[in-house]
Amino acid sequence: MDQRPVLFFDSGVGGLSVLGAARARLPQMPVVYVADSAGFPYGTKTEREIAARVPALLGRLAERYQPRLIVIACNTASTIALATVREALDLPVVGTVPAIKPAALLSQTRVIGVLGTDATVRQPYVDDLAARFAGDCTVLRHGSAELVALAEAKLHGAPTDPARYAAILDGLFGQKGGARIDTIVNACTHFPLVVDELAAAAPHPVRFVDGSAGIARRIAHLTEGQSWPDSPGEGRAVFTARDAGIDRLAPALAGFGLTRLDAL
Ligand code: DGL
Repeated sequence: MDQRPVLFFDSGVGGLSVLGAARARLPQMPVVYVADSAGFPYGTKTEREIAARVPALLGRLAERYQPRLIVIACNTASTIALATVREALDLPVVGTVPAIKPAALLSQTRVIGVLGTDATVRQPYVDDLAARFAGDCTVLRHGSAELVALAEAKLHGAPTDPARYAAILDGLFGQKGGARIDTIVNACTHFPLVVDELAAAAPHPVRFVDGSAGIARRIAHLTEGQSWPDSPGEGRAVFTARDAGIDRLAPALAGFGLTRLDAL
């Protein structure tokens, strides 16, 4: 029986939105979830910092946990470092990039919002996705570090202020043409974790899309024919820095099958 896990990687809890979709599709999958809490947040870092940090860390993690596949469950890390990680590692690496293609297939008004981190929304990778898949759409972008912090707070069990979600969304709807947005890409894996709060704060009903279902399909495809243990065993969450907040995260992590918590 092949016991090797799938390793999910993010700066924090955002990758849980990707893990959730993957577990629903592959319930027997053993999981190691790594949050680079020592490097969090990624969205306010420079390209150079991300490009130096992520491939080196994933190299160490691959050696330590011997995964069958790595999922970079972070748009910031993927849009900056995916190609370098793939070159460096001798195993399949699935990235998470803004779901502009599905959004363009769904939008009626042809005005799409892309909500990501500051680092993600300025990437040429996003220009390229917009040009290739949404050429006839107006693609408006907004980067928010605050929304990442709100998602982290929610999963740590802290209340968050509904007014803040409205203020963040105004960064999209307040742009020229923004009133016609009917589809928003959650282009940061933290944001699906607060999608209900976002939907409640939107000035009119909009559809939110993200890449998690597509990533789950991709993992299933890349592992087709491989064996899985009868049960996934205890899911492991690994943090690159240990602080008191990790204990407050335990209930949320348990909801994703992650009951063993470790520091790297
Ligand atoms: N969850 C990450 C993403 O998808 C980044 C959050 C952060 O560390 O800023 O972009």
